[in-house]
Amino acid sequence: MKRDGEKQSLWQHGIVDYTPVNKATDEVYDVLIVGGGITGITTALLLQSEGKRCILAEAQNLGFGTTGGTTAHINTMLDTTYAEIEKNFGEDGAKLVYRGAREAMDLIEGLNDRYRIDCDFVYRTAYLYADTHKENEELEKILNASEKAGCVSSWASGIPVPIPFTKAVRFEFQAQFHPIKYIHGLAKAYEAQGGIIRQQCAVTGIKSNDDGVVADTSAGAIRAKQAVYATHIPPGINILHFRNAPYRSYAAAFTLKNGVYPDGLAYDMKDPYHYFRTHVIDGQQYVIGGGFDHKTGHNENTEYVFTELEAYLRKYFDIDTVAYKWSSQYYIPADGLPYIGLMPGEDKIYVATGFGGNGMTLGSLAAKVLCGLLVNRETPYADIFSPTRIKPVAGFANFVKENADVVSAFISRRFSYEKIAALVELAPGDATIAEWEGKKVALYKDDNGRVHALDPVCPHAGCVVAWNNAEKSWDCPCHGGRYSADGALLTGPARKGLERIVLED
Ligand code: FES
Repeated sequence: MKRDGEKQSLWQHGIVDYTPVNKATDEVYDVLIVGGGITGITTALLLQSEGKRCILAEAQNLGFGTTGGTTAHINTMLDTTYAEIEKNFGEDGAKLVYRGAREAMDLIEGLNDRYRIDCDFVYRTAYLYADTHKENEELEKILNASEKAGCVSSWASGIPVPIPFTKAVRFEFQAQFHPIKYIHGLAKAYEAQGGIIRQQCAVTGIKSNDDGVVADTSAGAIRAKQAVYATHIPPGINILHFRNAPYRSYAAAFTLKNGVYPDGLAYDMKDPYHYFRTHVIDGQQYVIGGGFDHKTGHNENTEYVFTELEAYLRKYFDIDTVAYKWSSQYYIPADGLPYIGLMPGEDKIYVATGFGGNGMTLGSLAAKVLCGLLVNRETPYADIFSPTRIKPVAGFANFVKENADVVSAFISRRFSYEKIAALVELAPGDATIAEWEGKKVALYKDDNGRVHALDPVCPHAGCVVAWNNAEKSWDCPCHGGRYSADGALLTGPARKGLERIVLED
């Protein structure tokens, strides 16, 4: 199974691409769902089960984006703490968000049971631990707010990882699973009910008219009455691109010499925080450790981040083999809560984004909320997650500014190979942004020594991309658009790849 980067995630082990069985027709569908990750597939299944006729379009293969690179924790304790949610949305808001997260977990467990999906779903206790005075105080606030919101949580005397701590809180009824086995199971259940899946079907635009929507795709037009963007961040340029900041997170799956594997989920309170869990694949137990998150396109040596991550893990664990290392992307919303509902300015196109590091939980919740909205069922979550909500929060101005570091760069579409060679010396597999007479060019030398030259200006909104040497991709620092080494669109809000520049002899 392919993913949006060079590194293999643990979830790709032994998994082949999903092969749909149902064939698409040129009928007008009830709902077009764009995106084949957990949000899109769950939404499609729920709507199809409600009697809607659905088609799901995925630009690559199911799980290609963040669902293939998540560490697949399913939590009611969220990255945005209940203390923060209470501060921004009140006590009732915090209770409502907890209820939503709980319902999302029940939904995952329920679908897993109903469709007998073999995805290793299991409940675990999660531990949040502090190791400084300031973190102790913060932890106390988090515990109080979590209990008020509804979480079953209490002080803990120990944690499941061999890392020093001063105080810890345990959260009961958290969970974990294998995300790709899960979404493949959902996809089968969806198809069994007549749902259509089209892979390698990139949606390049959706237009609304009086009757519904028409999507232009790489495989021809798709017509539907309504549409859902479940693409992590929607395409086009709208307010959501200024309310969500893209981040990369790093993970490794490793085996231990002593065979003593942690029993539970664990998170520290650093910024960015480290997180741990275990998983058994083909009889082999692994610890999954992650962290070292940074804004997308804001770290010049992402390969070195893996070195740091491994050094950090080796400090505490008696590691035998580091079997997998991978990174993936998520979006942090400005006020801490996801945006789920009608796209701003649209009346037939829906969206779900801004899940932070809780994509499995909040993506599932989004599916439930979207399904309710599309079948006109009352949902208590419509307002709190509304994409058009305006929540003045401290730091929002900075957040937007930080997210809008647009630079303009222009470059001719032809370049002489000689000039390129004079610009930089690149080792095979390496890349850089070079300058030529005040203009920028993105250069990548492949393993055969061939140089690929690209216009580094992101076609989404004009920021200059940065090289991600670990995943061998060009990443945009503004809204997280990502492109392969030769410029093809991988993920993000752009509708096309980076412009290729012809290198003349
Ligand atoms: Fe928006 Fe690049 S400018 S993703």
